[in-house]
Amino acid sequence: MTKQRTDIRMTADQVQGPAIHVQGLEKSYKELRVLRGVDFDVARGSIFALLGSNGAGKTTVVKILSTLLKADAGTAGVNGFDVATRAADVRESISLTGQFAAVDEILTGRENLVLVARLRHLKNPGRIADDLLARFSLTDAGARKASTYSGGMRRRLDIAMSLIGDPPVIFLDEPTTGLDPQARIEVWQAVKELAARGTTVLLTTQYLDEAEHLADRIAILHEGRIIVNGTLAELKRLLPPAKVEYVEKQPTLEEVFLALVGDNGKNRNVGTNA
Ligand SMILES: Nc1ncnc2c1ncn2[C@@H]1O[C@H](COP(=O)(O)OP(=O)(O)OP(=O)(O)O)[C@@H](O)[C@H]1O
Ligand SMILES: [Mg+2]
Repeated sequence: MTKQRTDIRMTADQVQGPAIHVQGLEKSYKELRVLRGVDFDVARGSIFALLGSNGAGKTTVVKILSTLLKADAGTAGVNGFDVATRAADVRESISLTGQFAAVDEILTGRENLVLVARLRHLKNPGRIADDLLARFSLTDAGARKASTYSGGMRRRLDIAMSLIGDPPVIFLDEPTTGLDPQARIEVWQAVKELAARGTTVLLTTQYLDEAEHLADRIAILHEGRIIVNGTLAELKRLLPPAKVEYVEKQPTLEEVFLALVGDNGKNRNVGTNA
């Protein structure tokens, strides 16, 4: 398994181009057209945030990229492998942390990590577990059952588990939903460290400040398409600075988002029949 992973990395290094390439992606659930031609690229080693309201299709994109779901049309490549024709290679290249934490409550934090390392047939599962506990500031909590962890600790453990095997690309679907501000900052720190080590991170979020703090590039998914994609500075330039008396106020990402998407709460669930 370790060798295979190394091979995947070598292949990745040989492959030119972005870590994630998405073009013309379409997906419908029966009559509901969720994705209507989604295009974006994610550069290697960068953090890319996919923003969108509830039901915009963020999880659908992540599921297609992680080979859990087939697209109706378009192409998607991860780590140089086409998701439709090279699904096994894509799965070797990624980890997915879903919208809901997947830790085993009955096991301790360390046991959770050892279990995953064993399942992946890695050598030295104990050492891998201890390294990850240290990296995610969970060493002291390592011997405690995960059921006693706070939301932030559980999320960090979940992300640590997804890193076992050192995948070059990781998907985080709403990594901080439901966490308090302190726990969110802890998760952000962990995500930043990942990118600093060269891992490519695609995260989805509904929190605009999360995208503001973390992402190198931000894309907004709305009505089935990416309606804007750029750095925070580029997105802010889409709106003129608002003059407030004598102080020039830059628009926040939230203002940019609401101006582009509209803040009509009734339209938030794109395309539902409700
Ligand atoms: N398996 C399915 N069958 C039918 N409809 C689905 C299915 N999965 C998702 N949908 C619908 O597709 C739309 C997009 O869902 P998706 O989960 O991708 O949105 P999301 O952007 O991740 O939303 P959230 O922010 O709430 O997580 C929603 O309207 C949802 O109800
Ligand atoms: Mg979702």
